[in-house]
Amino acid sequence: MSSALFRTKNVEQSIRDTEEPEHSLKKSLSALDLTVFGVGVIIGTGIFVLTGQVAKNNAGPAVSLAFVAAGVVCALAALCYAEFASTVPVAGSAYTFSYASLGELPAWIIGWDLVLEFALGTAVVAVGWSGYIRSLLDNAGWHLPDYLAGRDNASGFGFDILAAVLVLVLTGILVLGMKLSARITSLVVAVKVAVVLIVIIAGAFFIKGANYTPFIPHPQPVPAGGNLKAPLIQLMFGWAPANFGVMGIFTAASVVFFAFIGFDIVATAAEETRNPQRDMPRGILGSLLICTVLYVAVSIVVTGMQKYSRLSVEAPLADAFKAVGHPWYAGVISFGAAVGLTTVCMILLLGQTRVFFAMSRDGLLPRFFSRVHPRFKTPHRPTILLGVVIAVVAGFTSLSELAELVNIGTLFAFVVVAISVIILRRTRPDLPRAFRTPWVPFVPILSVCATLWLMLNLPAETWIRFAVWMVVGFVVYFLYGRTHSRLALREKAAEQTTP
Ligand code: ALA
Repeated sequence: MSSALFRTKNVEQSIRDTEEPEHSLKKSLSALDLTVFGVGVIIGTGIFVLTGQVAKNNAGPAVSLAFVAAGVVCALAALCYAEFASTVPVAGSAYTFSYASLGELPAWIIGWDLVLEFALGTAVVAVGWSGYIRSLLDNAGWHLPDYLAGRDNASGFGFDILAAVLVLVLTGILVLGMKLSARITSLVVAVKVAVVLIVIIAGAFFIKGANYTPFIPHPQPVPAGGNLKAPLIQLMFGWAPANFGVMGIFTAASVVFFAFIGFDIVATAAEETRNPQRDMPRGILGSLLICTVLYVAVSIVVTGMQKYSRLSVEAPLADAFKAVGHPWYAGVISFGAAVGLTTVCMILLLGQTRVFFAMSRDGLLPRFFSRVHPRFKTPHRPTILLGVVIAVVAGFTSLSELAELVNIGTLFAFVVVAISVIILRRTRPDLPRAFRTPWVPFVPILSVCATLWLMLNLPAETWIRFAVWMVVGFVVYFLYGRTHSRLALREKAAEQTTP
């Protein structure tokens, strides 16, 4: 039984099964390409929306320190992720790499986790996008009724119609197989970075020193009955659950971690990189560094423009400019944010359907989902199924709750990846590695500790939701995947033919 759970696909088999095998061997990306791609995927709802939410609820002006903490955790994880992603010469996600190196059960766990990261991540970005579109409509004097403006805005029934429509439109685009050309991607990245720079430079003129005091607000007890909303670490040690204070910075870091998600997608391009050993760390760490610097600067400016307690939680960057009497800037920022968030949403949705497709192609999910469309040649079935589910989730769920769940799933995958780097160095020293993590096992161990620390700072209720997700995952695997896995079927067939 245990050997069945850890059965691996061999590398050749992985390549044969891969959708675009030639893709994994084309080495054309430079460190600069990776950096641009990284910045394009990374900057999104995290900085455009969550900054306001965590400043208001958890950290005050010290949200900038939270970005530094989350950036450091990501940099450590990135070094491990890059080795893991470059261990097997197959284009694809961490799911594919782990299937070929660690075994079926760990691969399933990572794949199931990636579904959470990409699917709910898409929903989070769509909800963030909708906040900026509403801010733009607001500028033009149009207001959506509260019950169509999302759960956070409604007292009773609330559905975020804009977020749901965006997800459905993008789903349609993906089914038709339209791709973003490199030129459009670069243009969008330029617009997004320009908007962030406008916030920093123009906003700096409206900073009032008084808004920074207190920089780290005093801890405030969470409202009675809200214990499950308190970070797990506070409950574990029996501390009185509180927001703000020094611990509030870590709570904030565990939420704004979302702003860095996407660098793991960059790491999966190792095999397409001309000189991965040199360019991978440059590309990943370079994009992480650029984003961290931009995030810290934006959060310092925004909390200086408006008292943290008055920041908007929907479109904080644009609304801070409205608050200081500059709706024109706010309009430009909302427009740029909306453009930038659309592509992040699309990339996450695409990643999501490809992971689901790969798991179904391997037989771990019903093979029904891995038949490509006869005309468009896209995995239309998982794309439509997940698109509809994500649209409904985006419509009905609050942004921060979703983001926390995405974060815990992604952080958990990083723990598995960091441990895997150490294990694989021992068990499979022979595997080709385009990129090697420096100072193994020190860096992976440090990465595991730092990642666990952020996870413990997430609310207890997020842990419960995550546990439910994982239990569902195990049930699906043991009831379906284990017996339907193509690898299992092949092994069985081989056993029957050998006398
Ligand atoms: N890092 C991306 C964002 O903040 C996913 O939207």
